[in-house]
Amino acid sequence: MSDLSTIVAEPWADWGLIDCGNGLKQERYGPFKVVRPEPQAMWRPGRDDWDPDATFVPGSDEEGGGRWVEHRPVPRQWQLARDGVTFNASLTPFRHLGFFPDMAPQWDWMRKRAADADVLNLFGYTGVGSLLLSDAGASLVHVDASKKSVEQGRENAKLSGLDDRPIRWIVDDAGKFTAREVRRKRRYDGILLDPPKFGRGPEGEVWRLEENLAPLLADCRKLLDADSRFLVLTIYAVRMSALAIGELVKQTLADLGGMVEMGEMAVREESRGLLLPTAIFARWSR
Ligand SMILES: C[S@@+](CC[C@H](N)C(=O)[O-])C[C@H]1O[C@@H](n2cnc3c(N)ncnc32)[C@H](O)[C@@H]1O
Repeated sequence: MSDLSTIVAEPWADWGLIDCGNGLKQERYGPFKVVRPEPQAMWRPGRDDWDPDATFVPGSDEEGGGRWVEHRPVPRQWQLARDGVTFNASLTPFRHLGFFPDMAPQWDWMRKRAADADVLNLFGYTGVGSLLLSDAGASLVHVDASKKSVEQGRENAKLSGLDDRPIRWIVDDAGKFTAREVRRKRRYDGILLDPPKFGRGPEGEVWRLEENLAPLLADCRKLLDADSRFLVLTIYAVRMSALAIGELVKQTLADLGGMVEMGEMAVREESRGLLLPTAIFARWSR
């Protein structure tokens, strides 16, 4: 009996994985089609009529990064929506488009557990997750090191008419903020964290996943109690197994009882229905 499960993001009105193969993927973000590198799509594409509006061209290994090539004009940003929450998409220099669509099933799972909940969102980026949970009745503390990402979160809140909701938008280092919350004896009903492999806090604090994840989770444990409902950890683009983060979450939250699920996150391709893996996850629930 496998301990591992696969959580699949299905296409929705404003987003879908149209096709993938030959190390590339073509997605639709609202009216615009974009092509990005996807090393795991080693198979042949399902269609030969790729006609993107923009393509992300990675830089050489040395220079890293990369740039977007527009085949047709693409606005600086455009609005998308999910479950009544509206947010901006844009061609970011980091090859992202301003949010992570494959997080959708995790957001749905947390929305079912969000009514009147106090939720901490660490590494929250542009806040789509925070807004979807706020819309489902939660009070949010949204923490990200990037002032720009947090400003975009506030902008997305305005776009969604959620700017009067109880959401604390905080620019801070996730580790520092969480340690301070422990000292303040705060508690949360839910915590979600989506750390990068490597990152920097606003004052240059270095975040290294392999080194800093365990101590951060240990502090997260101190912010949960017998009435807490969930902790969701998602990790992208690292050589790490879901079994490893699953075991870490199991050990760290063992005294809370409940259950821990772990596995892969994937997106379903619209043309053939095949699954493209995107991330790994571990989540605890009462
Ligand atoms: C992968 S993104 C998170 C994506 C987001 N959870 C989502 O699903 O939309 C990583 C985020 O971590 C933030 N970050 C990096 N280092 C950080 C640190 N030390 N403390 C807090 N946030 C950090 C980055 O600014 C970025 O927004």
